[in-house]
This record gives sequence, C-alpha cells and structure tokens, in this order.
Amino acid sequence: MTRKPNQQRFETRAIHAGQSPDPLTGAIVTPIYQASTFVQDGIGENKGYVYTRSGNPTRLTVEACLADLESAESAFVFPTGLAAAATILDLLESGSHIVAHDDLYGGVYRLLADLAPITRGHSVTFVNFADSAAVAAATRDDTAMLWFETPSNPLTRIVDIEAVVAIARKVGALTVCDNTFSSPYCQRPLEVGVSVVMHSATKFLNGHSDLLAGVAAVSPTAPEGVALRMKYLQNALGSVLSPVDSALLLRSLKTLAVRMERHCENAMKIATHLSENKEKFGLKEVWYPGLADHPGHDIAARQMHGYGAVISLIVEGGQPRADAIMKATHLFQFAVSLGGVESLIQHPATLTHATVPEARRIETGIVDDLVRLSVGIEGVEDLLADIEVALTGTLDV
Ligand SMILES: Cc1ncc(COP(=O)(O)O)c(C=O)c1O
Repeated sequence: MTRKPNQQRFETRAIHAGQSPDPLTGAIVTPIYQASTFVQDGIGENKGYVYTRSGNPTRLTVEACLADLESAESAFVFPTGLAAAATILDLLESGSHIVAHDDLYGGVYRLLADLAPITRGHSVTFVNFADSAAVAAATRDDTAMLWFETPSNPLTRIVDIEAVVAIARKVGALTVCDNTFSSPYCQRPLEVGVSVVMHSATKFLNGHSDLLAGVAAVSPTAPEGVALRMKYLQNALGSVLSPVDSALLLRSLKTLAVRMERHCENAMKIATHLSENKEKFGLKEVWYPGLADHPGHDIAARQMHGYGAVISLIVEGGQPRADAIMKATHLFQFAVSLGGVESLIQHPATLTHATVPEARRIETGIVDDLVRLSVGIEGVEDLLADIEVALTGTLDV
C-alpha cells in the first residue's frame, strides 16, 4: 500500500516522522531496544517482533523516518553504505547487465567492477552519467539497472536525474541513485522517478563521524515487489543496523536540516572565495555544483535544494603540493570520509579511490593533484582562514 505523502515541512518530519512517545513510559525519544530476541505469547502470537534480525523497534523507527524524508514507500538500514549497495545489487538475477557511472565512490566501483562480475555474473558498462546521450547509447534492451551518483564522488559531476529515469523506463530497468552527497534535504531522487535511493548514512545523515551505516529507500512507484524483496534480502543476508546505531542515526536525523543548511552555506562561501582567487591560491580548478561556471550547475539548480558540502580542487604543483596542503590545514583535518560536522580534507587518488585502477582513475579525472574538501559547520571565517594559510603557505613546494 502506498503511504500518503507527509505534508509537513522537512525540518518537522526530520524530528517527528515515524516517532511517537514510548507507549510504556512516555519517553520522548525512541528507546534502544537492545534485545536479540522477543518472548512469544504463543505460536504465531507476539507483539510484532520475533528476532532482531527480522525486526527491531528502534531500527524500524529510524527506517520509517528515513522513508518519510526520502518520499519512499519503505527504507532499510544496513551496517554500512557498502552493505546497502551489495544488498541492492542482489535485487538482480545473476547475469544481468548494469550501466554504471564511471565516477563513483571507489568502494562501490570495486563492488561493481570486480565483485559483481565474478560472484554474480553481471556485466557492467561504465559511462559518464553527466552525458545523458552516452548513458542512452550504453543502455541495452536487456539492461536491468542504471547506477549513478549525483553529485558524484569525487568530481562533483551532476547527472540529469529525470533524463536517466526516462532512459531506464524505455527498457524497464531499475534506477539506483546514490544520494550520499546531497542527503534528502538537498535532493530527493525518488520524487522524480528513481526506483531506489542508497546512502552511506555514515556521511551527512549521521553527520557526527561516529558510526557506519547504510540506507536503501524504495520508491512507491518502483516495480511491484521491489520493496518487499529489499526487506527479504536485508533479513536473508543478515545485513542489519544494530539497535544502538539505529538510535544514534535517528538522533542525528533530527538536526539534518539545520546541519545541511550550514554545510551548504559554508561550502558556497568557500568555493566562491577559492574560485575567485585561483591564481593567488595556486589552484587550477575549483569544482562545486553551486558555482555558476560548474558544468552541471543549471541541472543542479533545477534538481537540488542546496548544493552540498563537497568541493574538489585541482592544485598547481602536483601530488607534492597536494600533500603539503593537507599537512598544512588544521581545521580541515586530513582524513577520509565526508559529511560530518567537522571539516575534512583528503586525497582521492591514494585514499577513497585507491581501488580504482590507475589508468581508469586518470581517464575519469581522479588525478594526483586532486584534493577533496568536506566542509563542516564550523565558523566559516575560521575555515576560510585555515584553507587560505595552507594554500598560500605552500605555493613554493
Ligand atoms: C558516495 C558514497 N557511497 C557509498 C559509500 C560507502 O559507504 P560506507 O563507507 O558507509 O560503506 C561512500 C563512502 O565513502 C560514499 O562516499
């Protein structure tokens, strides 16, 4: 049955959706049901729960909240983003054809390029999804799934979601959009026809760099049976988020809107400042979808509400200067990951995308002088000062 869309504002839904005071105690926050099993009243008689892998009240609450925020029929939470991705792939029969974005997080690339062909017999065609004509050309009558990220990791390429949905519909393929970089605050792909949204909830959804989690959210308009199949697979593969982590994620969602607002505001100011002073800072490129000269800006303006908080830079001076910059920043800490309240800086070629073969990495544009920033919610003046000192202080490396 399709749920009626919640008409309340996103900020309100992030705090209340799927939640009500604990019926036993009135606790305003959903309790952590830290139990592996539930006592049965008789055969087939219980209070709705049997065993935590198949259902846990804390997990079901965060799943209901996420489903609401993504305008999904149902959402499922996993121990990591990659676990969510692997489970989504298992929606397909073995030997399927997938068309995938060539600019994906390295771990998802590894899953699709290395594992899926061996363990599931899938064949995967990689193509630049920012080029809709190339996606159409790569899609065959028997293509079962189109998989993309927008903005992509790490190049912040923008995919025209509606164009990809139209291509997939022609051949009856499922569409999977990794919405990690945007969060549902900035972009809701299911509302424009995508079948399944996935997340590394480790990033903006949780936002505090203290847990790993993944999400798969299924559209009410996805082919019949997809939501039920996801639920089946989550249990059958045993890939569930723990009650404690579910509670942490639920707590984090309550501040998602205010965090995202500040993330986007800070990132826009920093990207604008760096882009306007490229020469002074020794930068060849500044990529942020909010900048008017970003190749995907017009599409991003149409399909996003806020442009996220990831900025990619191509620096003068190659890898040695990239290394020097990452060592010189203090507030932008040198660590992988993104989407936390604290700002991070990292080197995709040797870290997040080290699993991508060198030739493909360079062909895609994940070059040695690429540095990725994840802008946090600190005071933007402090962040600007931190990055300015690092960039100007390393011009002679
Ligand atoms: C866009 C994207 N998708 C998926 C993942 C994988 O998520 P996890 O690290 O939670 O398994 C990541 C991790 O960095 C990511 O950036």
